[in-house]
This record gives sequence, C-alpha cells and structure tokens, in this order.
Amino acid sequence: MLKIKRRIAQNIFTTIKNANPNAETEVSEIEALLEYPPNADMGDLAFPCFKLSKMLRRSPVQIAAELAPTLNDAVIDRAEAVNGYLNIYISDKYLCENVIGEILEKGDRYGAPDIGHGKTVVLDYSSPNVAKPFHIGHLGTTVIGHSIKKLHEFAGYKCVGINYLGDWGTQFGKMIVAYKKWGNKTEIEEGGIDKLVELYVRINNEIKAEEEASDSKHSNLADMSREEFHKLELNDEENIALWKWFVEISLAEYQKTYSQLGITFDSYAGESFYTDKMPAQVEKLRQSGLMKIDDGASIVDLSQYGMPPCLILKRDGSTLYPTRDIAAAVYRKETYDFDKCIYVTSAGQSLHFAQWFKVVELMGYDWFDKLVHVPYGTVSINGAKLATRTGNVVLLKDLFAMAIEKVRAIMDEKNPNMPNKDETAEIVGVGAIIFYYLSNNRMKDINFMLEDALSFDGNTGPYVQYTYARTCSVLEKAGNTSTDGELKFTAPEEARLAKTLCRFEEKVRSAIAEYEPSIITRFILDIATDFNRFYHECAILTSPDPDVVATRLKLTLATKTVLGEAFELICMRKADKI
Ligand code: ARG
Repeated sequence: MLKIKRRIAQNIFTTIKNANPNAETEVSEIEALLEYPPNADMGDLAFPCFKLSKMLRRSPVQIAAELAPTLNDAVIDRAEAVNGYLNIYISDKYLCENVIGEILEKGDRYGAPDIGHGKTVVLDYSSPNVAKPFHIGHLGTTVIGHSIKKLHEFAGYKCVGINYLGDWGTQFGKMIVAYKKWGNKTEIEEGGIDKLVELYVRINNEIKAEEEASDSKHSNLADMSREEFHKLELNDEENIALWKWFVEISLAEYQKTYSQLGITFDSYAGESFYTDKMPAQVEKLRQSGLMKIDDGASIVDLSQYGMPPCLILKRDGSTLYPTRDIAAAVYRKETYDFDKCIYVTSAGQSLHFAQWFKVVELMGYDWFDKLVHVPYGTVSINGAKLATRTGNVVLLKDLFAMAIEKVRAIMDEKNPNMPNKDETAEIVGVGAIIFYYLSNNRMKDINFMLEDALSFDGNTGPYVQYTYARTCSVLEKAGNTSTDGELKFTAPEEARLAKTLCRFEEKVRSAIAEYEPSIITRFILDIATDFNRFYHECAILTSPDPDVVATRLKLTLATKTVLGEAFELICMRKADKI
C-alpha cells in the first residue's frame, strides 16, 4: 500500500499545485495525511482536507469536492468527497495485476523496507543468569529480542545478536560454596542445570535461615560465598574450573530451548568477558571528575537529571552491573561500530538503563543516543505471579514441553495418521506460546492462560498455523493446474485479502520504528481472517473459469508467501501440514 499511497499523494500534490501554485506543501506531507478509514464503506484510504484549509483559504468541504473529480489514476477506482474527507477506493484491477504480481516476483523479500543497508545493529537479548533458572520471565527478552533482530535483518541491517550471559557475580561464590558442601559431580553431569538450580535455591534458603536466626542478621554461608567469589576474581584455579563447568552446563541447556525457538546468537560474550575492560572506563570517569565518593562507594551523581546516582564501584572497590554495561557498550561501539545498540529487558530495569545511558553521555561519547532500551511488562502464568529465588518458578523449557504435549494430544485425536507428528507438535506448541505472548503490546502485563494460547479456535497461534497449512494444502492439491490465465478479481473477498497483504511493508516499518513485534502478530491475524473468508466464500480449484482459478491460486500463493515471512519475523516456525 506504500507505493499506492505515494502515487496518490503525488497526484493530490500535483492537483493542489496546479490550482494553487503558491501552496506550500510537500508530497511527503500529503502522504503522511493519508489514513486508513475505520471501515470499508468509507473507502480504502481517506484524505482529510482540514489541514489544507488554512493554506488554501477554502473550507475542507470545498477542497474535498474540488479534488474528487480530478484524481485520475489507474490506482483509483473512484474518489468521493464526504464531510471534508476525500474517500478513495482502490481499483481492483490494479490490485489484482500489480500486488499479486509484485508479491510473487519478490517472494520472501516482498515487504522488506530498504532502510538498513550498510548499517549495523547490535542486539543484546535473552541473557539469562547462569545457574539461575531460565524461566518464563525470560520469554519476553528472548522472543521480543529475536523478533526485533529478524525485523532489522529483513530491512537490510547487518545484525549482531549478543547473548550477554549473566556469567559473573557473587552468585558464583554461592554456587561454589553450595557445590563444595552439598554437590555431587555425577549427579550434576546427569541432571544438568536443574541440579545447579537446586543448589542455588538451597544456599539462598540456608543463608536466609542463618540471617533470621542471628540477631545481627549475620550469615556464615554468605561470608564464605563472598570469599569464594573473591578467590574466583583472583583467578583461583579450582574456582575458575568450577565456574567454567557451571557455565558450560547451563549453556548446553539453554541451547535446547533456543533450538526449539530456532534462535542462534552471533556472540555469547557475557558479563565475565568485560572484566578486563572496566578499569579503563572507571579511570576515564575518575579523570573526568564525574565520579564522586559517597559513603565509601564511587558514584555518578544524576540528581540534576531526576535520577538516583549511578553506582560504579562498591565500598570494597568491586564493580557493579552499570560499570559492566558501560564497558560493554564502549567495546561494542569499537568492535561493531553500531548504528543502534538495542537492549531488551523487563521494564523493571528501565531506570538502570536510563542511568548508565546518561553516564555514557556525560562521559562525552557522542554515540550515547544510539543506545536504545526496549522494555516489556511482567508475565504471570494462569494468574500466579512468578517468584525467582525460591525455586517456585515456571521454567521456559517446562512451559514449552507442556504446550507441545497438549498440542500432540489434540493431534492424536484430530488427525492420528499425520506424518511428522512430533516435529509438527513442537512447531505448533512452541509457536502457540510465542504467538500468545506477542499478541499484546510489549509493555502490557501478561497473564498466560495456557488453554487459551493452545486453542485451535480464536486468535491463536494454532489458528494461524492452521491457516498457513491450509494455503499449502490448496497449492498442493492444485498440483500442475495452469496459472497462466488473465488475472481478475470477481469476488469482494479477493480484493479485500489483497488490500491486507499489500500493507506488509508499512507494518514492518512501524514494527521496527516502535520496536513492537505485536504489530506483525496482529497483521498475521488480519491476513488469516481475510484468507479464511476468501477460502470459504470463493471456490478455488472448482471454479469453471480458468482465469478465476489462476487468480485465486496466485492469491493463495501470495498469502502463503506473506504469512510465511511474517511468521519468521515473530520467530514462529511453520508447518506445511497440521
Ligand atoms: N542478565 C540480566 C538479567 O537476567 C539481563 C542482562 C540485560 N543486558 C544488559 N546489557 N544489561 O536480569
């Protein structure tokens, strides 16, 4: 629709200029005014004439009435002036000949905006904390992050996906103490990350118990943990070996989840990678006079900007989360020369990002405005809020396993002889979770209702997967049926579907501009609704007119192409048969 909009805008612009040579307006201004009317009776596009009224010194009603008869373009069927609006109806013939043709010609590049060429985007997402549970709170950063990466890649950006693993910090001191006290090598080798999490949960509980039992809130285990972490920082051989082992075990487990989602990363440079890169930034902060000592700790005062101070060093001189992020950003700028560096985390971390972004600015790095934080709301499951430290959490892998199992049961009942049932159940099950999660604006808090997400009716992942499979089966049934006929639309459902499909590029542009994958998810639903309406109302293969058959088959192929690409953009895998 972008092309159509541009053409109509040019047309309106020329008409206005011809009648009023002094009118100060631009084609882009006219294009930005074109809007989609709330319902189809009011046209496919509407041009409100109110803004022009002052400039042209005529009423909007007059302007619309003057413009209506002068808009002659093959794109337009007719234009009607109604209450100061110009309601524009796109020509079916144009849609049919051009939109379908363009989709089929461009294939999976259809809808790709050419905006990223020669630019690099770094994306920091997923980034679980090693040895802590990879739970459904991480679903957001993982799928929103990956979807934003896919969207940028589609638009031609070079993308670097970084999993900034939480692989450093005092929790490793705790893990080492817990392992030395209660751990068992074989058990961990066999049980993997679950056993590590058990140890982590146990030591946290025991520290809490010790603190509660002591008047001064003191815990020996906490002291020991700090000591072990300190040894780790000093490169103690045994502790380094244990730490590496914990990271390896955790990574192997994350990989399973990533492969179910079809996600790969370009770098796993986690927090530990930046240890030796922090001193230079701390020194720069010190020399610039930005760093102040406050109660023994080193901070950057941000009160002028309405924020609490950004903590750089603790009283004992150890570094903190913001210190590492600053060093990592400098390293990434030097290494990748990014045009944007995007961080996807829960909204709970918004202040952290605002603070250290400000520090980067104050340090004089002129690329500070290329740092982007993309926050998202909280997740609960079937009404229950998630706790982290207690072990009372829903793991991402368990959520996926549950979804896959339920989909598998539905398939066993509906279509017991289906080939590839395991793989299809995984695609549809995991896809259902992604789709449900990405159906809402990212800032909205989400309560995960598993039954709703997995339903085959309603606006769900299984429903859209089913629609995609339907396009595949129509095309498969068509076999070698000729599609050489003349393209022509004969039913309103066809044009309606084509009008939806051709909005793809605009949707992609908005999703990128707003860092909002749900724009694509909702677009997928629009396509599914329009395709299913078309499918029910229009005979495809049994139509007596070969031109109609050809048109409908091509429209089906165009739908499959756009739907398939849109699935990719929200990191949802697809199945040809369900
Ligand atoms: N590991 C952190 C967490 O789970 C998220 C890291 C986000 N990225 C960053 N550069 N701070 O909370």
